[in-house]
Amino acid sequence: MTMLRSVVTGVGGYLPERVVTNDDLAKFVDTSDEWIVERTGIRQRHQVRDDQPVSDLAVEAAKKALAAAGRTPDEVDLIIVATTTADLTFPAVATIVQRKLGCPVGVAFDVQAVCSGFVYALSVADGFVARNRSKCALVIGAETMTRLMDWTDRGTCVLFGDGAGCVVLEPQEGQGTTADRGLLGFALRADGTKQELLYVDGGPSTNGQVGHLRMQGNQVFRHAVVNISEAIVSAAEDAGVEVASVDWFVPHQANLRILQGVAKRVGIDEHKVITTLDQHANTSAASIPLALDQGVRDGRVKPGQLLLLEAMGGGLTWGACVLRL
Ligand code: ACO
Repeated sequence: MTMLRSVVTGVGGYLPERVVTNDDLAKFVDTSDEWIVERTGIRQRHQVRDDQPVSDLAVEAAKKALAAAGRTPDEVDLIIVATTTADLTFPAVATIVQRKLGCPVGVAFDVQAVCSGFVYALSVADGFVARNRSKCALVIGAETMTRLMDWTDRGTCVLFGDGAGCVVLEPQEGQGTTADRGLLGFALRADGTKQELLYVDGGPSTNGQVGHLRMQGNQVFRHAVVNISEAIVSAAEDAGVEVASVDWFVPHQANLRILQGVAKRVGIDEHKVITTLDQHANTSAASIPLALDQGVRDGRVKPGQLLLLEAMGGGLTWGACVLRL
């Protein structure tokens, strides 16, 4: 039986020019390259200029994804931006991206699920594209996480970076089998009782400030491997595939030990893991599309291959997605 699938037809990424190494951080916070690399796998991160809002990062990633898809801004009818670091409290970054790209009147809004935002946004976009309510959708993960850092807190400020990634989604007819290209399965989760483990201590309806990221890192770590692994198994079941059959594991890039722990627990060969956190650090909702962009650009990830995406972040929220490129 034929059915419409939401197919990724283009991928793009953008990283700010400024690179901040672990040694750069060690000049003003009590840390070392050795500690950061050993505990996290991170070696450097990119950081925005003071005059660069997150929408600028999103626009650059979107331009590259549209070029890769062979589409132009005038064809875009849906923009979803996953972000936790919006330019303004409102309007949504997605509408700013729409204006800056010059896209026609369509649907544009943001999704706020912190590091899990891109997986959540893909699922939301699938609701439009696979129902033929969008012919050309941009799903963007874009973040300026360095703007949320308390630069005196060594337990958090060494972990995050800035960047944006984007995929173009288009409806294509499939056969309703796992051989179809497109988004094949999802598992999304949230547990609001774990808010105190990872949050930002500011907001428009509390203290009217942007706030700083606060995290009980070792507690988040404890939940990460178990939660993410369960979501991966559920997403694979939803898609009707075996986890071991995926060609590439494209995880949210939080900590190398989390990536390795998850891969081991669900039975994914470590050579199938796309890793960028050594270069990008944790870019929250941007990290999955940036890793996907890296894999596509260096030729490892090819059309027709089966991919597994996963993320966990503030909320807590977490989730996984299986797609065939
Ligand atoms: N440099 C040097 N020492 C440090 C640093 C640092 N940057 N940060 C913490 N330490 C010290 C602590 O003060 C502590 O010292 P003490 O024993 O004298 O008190 C010691 O290192 C151990 O601290 P822990 O927090 O227990 O270290 P841990 O091994 O758990 O590593 C880390 C910390 C890297 C934050 C880890 O817990 C982690 O990655 N957790 C996952 C959290 C995460 O990635 N969150 C991102 C958002 S959610 C997500 O994306 C999954």
